[in-house]
Amino acid sequence: MCGIVGYIGRSEALPVLMDGLRRLEYRGYDSSGVAILNGGSLAVRKAVGRIANLAELIQSEPVHGQVGISHTRWATHGGVTHENAHPHLDQSGHLSLVHNGVIENYQKLREQLTERSHVFQSQTDTEVLAHLVGEAFDRSERRDKAALVEAVREALRQVIGTYGIAVLHADVPGILVGARRGSPLVLGIGKNEHFLASDVSAIVAHTRDVVYLNDYEIVAIQDDRFEISTVSGSGADFQISKVEFSAEAVDKGRFPHYMLKEIYEQPNSVRDAMRGRLSAEEATAKLGGLEMTNADLRSVDRIVLSGCGTAFHAALAGEYLIESLAHIPVECEFASEFRYRNLPLDRDTLVFVISQSGETADTLAALRESQRKGHRTLGICNNVASTIARESDGGVYMHAGPEIGVAATKSFTSQLVILTLLGLLLGRIRHLSHAEGRTIISEMEKLPDLIARTIELDKQIEKIAKKYARAENFLFMGRQANYPIALEGALKLKEISYISASGYPSAELKHGVIALINEETPSLFIAPQDAVFDQNVSNIEEVKARKGPVIAIGTEGDTALAKICDDVILIPHAPDYLTPILAVLPLQLLAYHIAATLGCDVDKPRNLAKSVTVE
Ligand code: F6R
Repeated sequence: MCGIVGYIGRSEALPVLMDGLRRLEYRGYDSSGVAILNGGSLAVRKAVGRIANLAELIQSEPVHGQVGISHTRWATHGGVTHENAHPHLDQSGHLSLVHNGVIENYQKLREQLTERSHVFQSQTDTEVLAHLVGEAFDRSERRDKAALVEAVREALRQVIGTYGIAVLHADVPGILVGARRGSPLVLGIGKNEHFLASDVSAIVAHTRDVVYLNDYEIVAIQDDRFEISTVSGSGADFQISKVEFSAEAVDKGRFPHYMLKEIYEQPNSVRDAMRGRLSAEEATAKLGGLEMTNADLRSVDRIVLSGCGTAFHAALAGEYLIESLAHIPVECEFASEFRYRNLPLDRDTLVFVISQSGETADTLAALRESQRKGHRTLGICNNVASTIARESDGGVYMHAGPEIGVAATKSFTSQLVILTLLGLLLGRIRHLSHAEGRTIISEMEKLPDLIARTIELDKQIEKIAKKYARAENFLFMGRQANYPIALEGALKLKEISYISASGYPSAELKHGVIALINEETPSLFIAPQDAVFDQNVSNIEEVKARKGPVIAIGTEGDTALAKICDDVILIPHAPDYLTPILAVLPLQLLAYHIAATLGCDVDKPRNLAKSVTVE
């Protein structure tokens, strides 16, 4: 949600900033801007809309310099206008600042600054912060690095809220200052150059040596050095990490969209989620990151899974998986509700928060609320450097690689795999025999191949997508663990194609939803050959009796569905606990092709941003 890139070094800053912004555009795409210092002169360029608009502007009004900051915005305070686009200036016009996060007390600060004759150009909370830093700097008698860092510190002590910022000042041209609280910021270390970014993918083409800043840390960078301190003024310990993935991992490669690339990556991402975690010898899963002994795990008598959006759907599927494999009751909580609900958490309840980005504000709040109650809380995260990964008391990484498409795809299947591993581990400590454990492991090992075979249905699914792309309403239905898959299919479709879509347990149809059925409203049923196949068929008949078109996801070899449905997609056979992982793939592809057919911006759907770092 919003992206920041900063550069200081001996090369031109603009190409680095623009490349970084393009890589971060999935974070927000309401407006973008750059501020570049050339000696003592500051140039700012901003444009509403996509980065392409900014690039066009810069072509007609070029800027040069070796120090710069930039931003791509997802609007929170203030509409999508040129004035509200970052970077913002202070009262003197010499200081420029970009910001991710929300300054909660900005109204009060703005009133106080206005009383001191400050004039604001925008409605944003960020401009208030720029003025505060500028005012503190102007009060100082010195014009040097220490004075700018101190001014940032002084301003940040006055704000309530979250921030990831980058600041430069025309009077101190050889320095950039960054700071974070609640919004990620990473320092990239190069040779005679340094970078700041809200997400490592923006700078990985230039360096893989990075420092992930902690909350309340301030970094001052020059071309050949950096210094990290804290908002309170003390020094800070830091660690230089190596970024695990390469610049190619954040490129689209041969695919027209990141989403399609990421759908196709699932044989590998699922393999990576299982790698080293299946023990054939002990017929169980090994999840060392939980940092719990078998005795600890044996005393667990209830599990709470929490997350948002797609991660919440994974939690819902996890409820079925864990209950069926381990016979432990599971409860799912929207992370956005967790902290307001005062959920009873008994000593033997195990709490997991699930988040691809590891930065979702609501999920982070759920983690903190659970920990505040003194409860050990675990994370299932993809981004290893994220706040949730760092703050949780243990957990399991997804190892899915960077997910850039705003619609979550590969992270979802990785989450399902991890929840299945958890079910196996907990089940083996309880009632599952060695032989049963071995069977589950050998079925899981087949998954990457089954996923690859399912993705081969792409062409058939594209044809079906074209047939139904003009529908205004879509229904998705499934039973048991495939009900959350129906919810996920509906979410994928609505978020990238803007078609209204809802997911239901198949049998709920007759309790109200059936009123929506008509010749124009397609219903997609997930109806594999499982214990509830016949019940699903009855529900399909109910739709057909009312002339509703039906697309069914069935199991290879099925002949019954083709007799009653308009279109049938047959996926490979797998045990019930693995079928959801296969069943979601056609739904991801269907949503993708419908959106592409309608000409929607698949990777950057309107109003959305990857990683929602505000409440
Ligand atoms: C849907 C989607 C969102 C995210 C949700 C949680 O395609 O991407 O619903 O799943 O915002 O994000 P993470 O997993 O990063 O916490």
